[in-house]
Amino acid sequence: MNDPRTEQEPQRITLAAIGDLHVVETDEHRYRDLFAEISEAADVLALCGDLTYFGKTGVAESLAADLQACTIPVVAVLGNHDYECGQPEEVARILTAVGVTMLDEQAAVVNGVGFAGVKGFIGGFDRGELGAFGEAAIKTFVDESINEARKLENQLRTLRTDRAVAVLHYAPIAATVAGEPEPIFPFLGSSRLANAVDRFDNVKAVVHGHAHRGRYQGATPRGIPVYNCAQFVVQQDFGRPYALLEI
Ligand SMILES: [Fe+2]
Ligand SMILES: [Fe+2]
Repeated sequence: MNDPRTEQEPQRITLAAIGDLHVVETDEHRYRDLFAEISEAADVLALCGDLTYFGKTGVAESLAADLQACTIPVVAVLGNHDYECGQPEEVARILTAVGVTMLDEQAAVVNGVGFAGVKGFIGGFDRGELGAFGEAAIKTFVDESINEARKLENQLRTLRTDRAVAVLHYAPIAATVAGEPEPIFPFLGSSRLANAVDRFDNVKAVVHGHAHRGRYQGATPRGIPVYNCAQFVVQQDFGRPYALLEI
C-alpha cells in the first residue's frame, strides 16, 4: 500500500554544491578526499564552474581523476577560467568521460530533481544592467548575456519535475556578490539569469560561483533562494568548502 505522505511529498535530496575549484598543475589530487567526503554527505554534487584555473586539458584530466572518488551523480557548468586556454569543449569532454553531466545545452534529471545550468555571463544587475544599444561591440557583448539566459530558460522549460535547481557560474543577483568591490559588480553576473529562473514555479534553488568574496545567500526578485557556492564563501560561513542544500 502506498504511503499517502510519500505521494504528496517527494523525498528530498541533499545537494552538495561547490564552485571555483581553480585546479592547477601543482594541486596533486587536492580534491580527491573532498569528493569522497561529499559522497558521504550528499546525494548529488553540483560543480559551479571555474573548475580549472586556466582551462588546461592536463589539469582537467587531473580533476577528472579526483572525481573518480565521487560516488554520487555530478552535474556541472564551466566558468570563465575554464575558457582561458580556448578549449572549453575539451575540458567538458574530459569531465564527461568520467561520468560528469555537463549542463549548458541540455537539462538533466537526477534522483527526481531537474537540473538546468549555464555558465552565464556578465552585464550587471537591475538598474545597472547594460542594454543592447549603440555600438556593434556593445550589442555583441549584451547578446552573449541574453543568449546565456535564454539557454537557461530553454532548459528549464524542458523539465517536468516538481523540483528544479539552476546551476550557474556567474551570479544572477547582486545580493550574493555583495562584499566584492562595488565597481566590479557588473562583471560578476547578470540579472537576466534571475529573470529566466523567475519564469518557473518549480525552481527551488539557484547555485553559482565566481564571486569569491561575495555573500552566501540571497534571493531572486520572486523569492527563489540563491546560494553563492564559491568555495571561499562557503568555507567562511560553514568551515567546509561545499554547500549542503535540501531540495
Ligand atoms: Fe573563480
Ligand atoms: Fe569565475
